[in-house]
Amino acid sequence: MQIKKELFDKYNGQDIQRFTLTNDNGVSISAISLGATWNAFEFPDKNGKKANVLLSMDNSEEIMKNQYFCQAIGRTAGRITKGTFSIKGKEYHVDANEGTTTLHGGPHGFNTQIWNGSFEDNQIVFEKHIDSTDDSFPGNIDVKIVFALSDDNEVTITYSAKSDADTLFNPTQHAYFNLSDHDNVYGQTLTINADKYLELNKDKTPTGKMVNVANTAYDFRSDLNIKKGIDDMKQSVGHTYDEVYVINDHSVDQPIATLADPDSGRKVSIKSARNALVVFTPDDLDGVKFTRGDGVAHMGIALEAQNLPDTPNHEGFGSVLLPAGEEKTYTIKYKAEF
Ligand code: GLA
Repeated sequence: MQIKKELFDKYNGQDIQRFTLTNDNGVSISAISLGATWNAFEFPDKNGKKANVLLSMDNSEEIMKNQYFCQAIGRTAGRITKGTFSIKGKEYHVDANEGTTTLHGGPHGFNTQIWNGSFEDNQIVFEKHIDSTDDSFPGNIDVKIVFALSDDNEVTITYSAKSDADTLFNPTQHAYFNLSDHDNVYGQTLTINADKYLELNKDKTPTGKMVNVANTAYDFRSDLNIKKGIDDMKQSVGHTYDEVYVINDHSVDQPIATLADPDSGRKVSIKSARNALVVFTPDDLDGVKFTRGDGVAHMGIALEAQNLPDTPNHEGFGSVLLPAGEEKTYTIKYKAEF
């Protein structure tokens, strides 16, 4: 494994470092200390031509102007209704950043933090202490995010946290993929191990109801072409995918989702022990400048493994409680095939 540390740029007067791992197959990942952002995932196609399959950006200003692209998300991925939740009978209110809703950990979420970056045993390690006064969540929390790359071309991102008071912890990586050399994902297919998705209110908070995907445009149970899916969604419900899939009970070595590009032969399979995957194919990326070019509709697809959002406001959504003094760890794995 080759490792490289370099200055990415400066943001708010602080150096932003870029860390890169390259294995012996020529597969490489990079991550930067601003927002623990996954800044590149490069691997070959069936003809050996390497490309970065993420919607990456070349500078911190662009990243922060267009938040969340490939960034670490926390303390809680997704939306919390009215920024309000209870833990053991006590009600908490956290800062809102989308009307009255708290999205992706609020205005001071993980993606806004500058992390302390380093290499440890050929892994990229980001660490940060976040006080309750920083992000309004209960508990002062120590967080560690580790990016690892194996010799069989699997990326593992591990999120660990410990808090001095009961709080919430439901992290994810907001990775946007495009496995092809085209400027949209129309030729790619997606498979998701989910029989249900969440019904959402107009503000995209969950109603609590889970809906069967069968016989709908939401059904990704067997490698659906993404362009067909987007067209069917628009025809049937009037919008593209911005959906929360309820992952079926599964063994941790069974992928929860697989994105494939038949033209290039590239494939990414995602593994997670948790019960949700958010799928988002933005219609409007006008004005966003990516490493691969100026943003256009459906240039990438966001796949965000996490626990169901707005927990603990809904029975049956699981738990994202981080009890005081207890360390919780979650991993997301991305296996590259080509
Ligand atoms: C998630 C949400 C989307 C959007 C993106 C960030 O995918 O589901 O509604 O907020 O994050 O742009």
